[in-house]
Amino acid sequence: MVLSQTAAWLQICFALMLLLLSSGPGTASSIVNMRRITHPTVQQMLAGKAVLPCVFTLRTSSSVQPPHLLWTHTKPPAREYDAPLEQIVLSAKGDVIKVNKAFSGRVTLPGYSASHLNATMEISSLRTNDSGTYHCQVVVGSDYERDAVPLLVSGVVFHYQAPNVRYALSFTEAQRACQENSAQMALPAQLWAAYHDGLASCSAGWLADQTVRYSVQLPELGCYGHKEYSAGVRNYGKRDPKEMFDVYCFAEELDGWPIQSATSGGLGVLAGSQLEFGCASIFFA
Ligand SMILES: *[C@@H]1O[C@H](CO)[C@@H](O)[C@H](O)[C@H]1NC(C)=O
Ligand SMILES: *[C@@H]1O[C@H](CO)[C@@H](O)[C@H](O)[C@H]1NC(C)=O
Repeated sequence: MVLSQTAAWLQICFALMLLLLSSGPGTASSIVNMRRITHPTVQQMLAGKAVLPCVFTLRTSSSVQPPHLLWTHTKPPAREYDAPLEQIVLSAKGDVIKVNKAFSGRVTLPGYSASHLNATMEISSLRTNDSGTYHCQVVVGSDYERDAVPLLVSGVVFHYQAPNVRYALSFTEAQRACQENSAQMALPAQLWAAYHDGLASCSAGWLADQTVRYSVQLPELGCYGHKEYSAGVRNYGKRDPKEMFDVYCFAEELDGWPIQSATSGGLGVLAGSQLEFGCASIFFA
């Protein structure tokens, strides 16, 4: 009898100890608290600007070392059975911010200087290639949190020439040709974005600002026998509207996508799907 009472008491003690331990500071929940909501897909147009939200808080006791922020970009794999490609976009610790070359000059943390707990990232001059899932990661010591924001860059630049005739459109006719294809004349920034997505065309075409340009990927191949010096968008400058060229159009939607001599800058259908994978891959810092 005495023995069993003692046993019962021991059990209660043990339970109490467990309770105390589990509510004590040692096993507190994560140091980093992310304001995590299910982010809707951020959708923006080619050459536009996207704001990817990421804000977190820290437990006061942990402010000894600055948190390490990491933004990564994950693209769906090119082929179904390949692994998704995750690359670092930006890393920040204290006042040191490092940006991946592929995003150089295009990403900023607009709220970071005001508060190091605001990791919201802005990407400008958007390319179709930028579509995918962005992960915001905050690492403090051995503790971390991670949040995901999907981005979809839509819209496409295409080259149009009059049926069977090259360089047969005045500026006004070029404008009309785009409209007839449910599109508008492309802006220079949109042609540049398409160039970065792989658009190559040796055809000089009107743009909305009345300049005439084309996109060269492989200068060594030359266009019409004359060699170009570097890859990029060639610019003939502002031209007389009566001169005849082809045109570059920009379509917001892929529906009603024109078939005409289209050299596309990549279609905006990559993203939308949200990819998540294990935490093991993140400690490359
Ligand atoms: C974080 O920074 C962004 C960009 O400047 C700003 O719009 C947002 O209001 C900030 N959020 C907080 C909670 O400070
Ligand atoms: C962008 O997409 C094109 C076409 O898919 C690809 O060839 C190119 O390597 C990509 N560029 C970057 C920077 O991811």
